[in-house]
Amino acid sequence: MKYDFAVIGAGPAGYVAAKKAASAGLKVVMVEKKKLGGVCLNEGCVPSKTLLQAAKTYHHAKHGSIFGVEAGSLSFDFGKAHAHKNSVMDRMRDGIAGLMKKHKVEVIEGEATLVKGGFSVNGETHEAENILLCTGSSPTIPPIPGIEAEHIVDSTGILNNETLPENLVIVGGGVIGCEFACVYASVGVPVTVLEAMPEICPNLDSEIAAILRKELEKKGVTFVLGAKVESFEGKSVRYNLEGESKDMNADLVLIATGRRPNVSDLGLEDIGLDFDPRGGVKVDQRGATNLPGVWAAGDVTGQAWLAHAASRMAEVVVHNITGQKDIMRHDTMPAVVYTSPEVAVVGLTKEEATERGLKVKTGKIPMAINARYIAENPGEEGMCKVVLDADTNRLLGVHMVGGACSEMIFGATAMLETELREEEIAEIVFPHPTTSEIMKDVFMAVR
Ligand code: NAI
Repeated sequence: MKYDFAVIGAGPAGYVAAKKAASAGLKVVMVEKKKLGGVCLNEGCVPSKTLLQAAKTYHHAKHGSIFGVEAGSLSFDFGKAHAHKNSVMDRMRDGIAGLMKKHKVEVIEGEATLVKGGFSVNGETHEAENILLCTGSSPTIPPIPGIEAEHIVDSTGILNNETLPENLVIVGGGVIGCEFACVYASVGVPVTVLEAMPEICPNLDSEIAAILRKELEKKGVTFVLGAKVESFEGKSVRYNLEGESKDMNADLVLIATGRRPNVSDLGLEDIGLDFDPRGGVKVDQRGATNLPGVWAAGDVTGQAWLAHAASRMAEVVVHNITGQKDIMRHDTMPAVVYTSPEVAVVGLTKEEATERGLKVKTGKIPMAINARYIAENPGEEGMCKVVLDADTNRLLGVHMVGGACSEMIFGATAMLETELREEEIAEIVFPHPTTSEIMKDVFMAVR
């Protein structure tokens, strides 16, 4: 067969690109070796958020007495939470399948390899004028002795664990580590996070990360910072802390030490595609690789590692293929840690802006000044921080921790995308009473 556009991988980059290209009138094929929806839908964002909501519901019921809610005897059925998770995933997969059918995208189940001018799958070779490689990423498994034991799982494995362990040890206090720590600690499982760096979530503003850590500690998570895991033996975990070896027991271990791009077994070397096994496929701002007609988007490029970034990268590629000029801007990409409380950020931290040679001014304000926030989140600490260009007053970054701040960050993203300045933001009316008013207040604090 000959296609206008072939998409390899059906995650949030793949299905968005396929639908968009088909809507523009291209003859499109999408190849997937596992399930529609990729890591996001099957092994990441969607199932983990469903379990986080289950844990949050239990936690609210247990700690509802401040609102006058006494739940009496309370139990948590992890199996039921998983059943709900599975039904959400089934429904979303059906949705993608329906979308592909509606837009006349041909979907092929199989493992594709790239060849010059096209791709091969299930023993057949097809031609494609343009190919989008969006094969995603997989968890990295560090070479620690004993790591292959059955009770040691990665983020995919833990999503299939339907029994609550006696205790959970998480190696890596990044986004995945914190989200699963929140799930398990919220339902009463003792959780210890071993993090190699001096603070959790090293990519976040350190003050925001510290508030998140303290809030998770209140839920029963123990963080050991500066801990380097040395080995696993039976149910024992050996780690090094300040030069001293220490042991602890773990019923279940989650390895959450990062992800790597899926670049193997795709024939990339054979066609001469420029890629790095750890850094991913090299692309320019349009998503173009070194080979004409071959494009890449999402985690396979080693950029952003976020579902919504992957979808946007895919959109940019399709725009370029169909003659619309477009480029990817990572500086305005929001990111969220879906713990309780949530962290939501967009743009530069003070340190990043200063490194770029910008003169910055910053403002910060505790969430606890906001009536709606303290009404809904009693006893929880939160913060909103902004970074502005001191010369132009242009907004450079917003960093929040507290409540459901993931629902507010798009507002800050819109401000960054449209390059608003402080005095323009000051004219925006925020509804009262909402937690989003914290943004209005923080800009007033800067003034
Ligand atoms: P991560 O890069 O966020 O965190 C990994 C952590 O493990 C780091 O803090 C690192 O210092 C630590 N670490 C590495 N080796 C270690 C060792 N041997 N011992 C102790 N600590 C060690 O990676 P994570 O959490 O696995 O997530 C992978 C990617 O997926 C990230 O880029 C993340 O942004 C993305 N993701 C995003 C989500 C979201 O947007 N909510 C949800 C889940 C993942």
